[in-house]
Amino acid sequence: MTYLPARKLYQEWAATYDDPSNPLIEAESKVLAGILGEVAGKKVLDLGCGTGRHAILLAKAGAQVTGVDFSDEMLAVARSNSKGLEITFLNAELGAVPLEEPFDLVLCSLVLSHVPDLLPAMKEMSRLTRPGGRIIITDLRTDHWFRKTRKIRKFGNYVTDGFKHTLSDYRTAAAATWLKLECLSRIYFDDAIVARFRWFFYLKYIAVGYAFELTKQPA
Ligand SMILES: C[S@@+](CC[C@H](N)C(=O)[O-])C[C@H]1O[C@@H](n2cnc3c(N)ncnc32)[C@H](O)[C@@H]1O
Repeated sequence: MTYLPARKLYQEWAATYDDPSNPLIEAESKVLAGILGEVAGKKVLDLGCGTGRHAILLAKAGAQVTGVDFSDEMLAVARSNSKGLEITFLNAELGAVPLEEPFDLVLCSLVLSHVPDLLPAMKEMSRLTRPGGRIIITDLRTDHWFRKTRKIRKFGNYVTDGFKHTLSDYRTAAAATWLKLECLSRIYFDDAIVARFRWFFYLKYIAVGYAFELTKQPA
């Protein structure tokens, strides 16, 4: 296994990231589709947007979308994938987004296991959400890890840094940033996925990820 820091990993992975054989992405998409709700006419920020998987669906559903990511290579694929749609893409760190105007919905999908501390990213999500607006965070489940950090296998034989965040870490970061945790959904591999990836059968019963729905409280 070759170690790459996250930004370098996504630089290498960008060209093949959209390969549809990633079961976590498939399982997460299904859960997210159930909780996104109506987005037409809403201002949506997709933080860590990658190749634009969600940004594109949201724009097609009528949302006004801005996608932010720290990888130029992932953003280049997102721009190419979204030709004909009006999506603004921007290179920035999760914890320092150079935008001011608040959004109705902030989405941060499959990103936070890459950051050691939830607080800088959650602060930005809170700052960039209008009072009463929603935040949806999805991620790989890391709360059952024994250690705070682990090399997580990403694409091919590459590994990168992964950071454990417990549910209580999320609650603490939410409370510190005026966010109210409204709902937590667990992401499992369903029968359709398990039929294709049989060795993951136990992941029908053990969550592979979480989806958090939060609201921004009035100051
Ligand atoms: C697993 S991909 C998820 C992409 C997209 N949200 C999706 O669900 O398909 C993680 C993305 O987060 C971005 N990322 C990771 N750490 C970041 C950081 N500190 N600041 C900005 N983007 C980051 C990576 O470049 C990558 O595009």
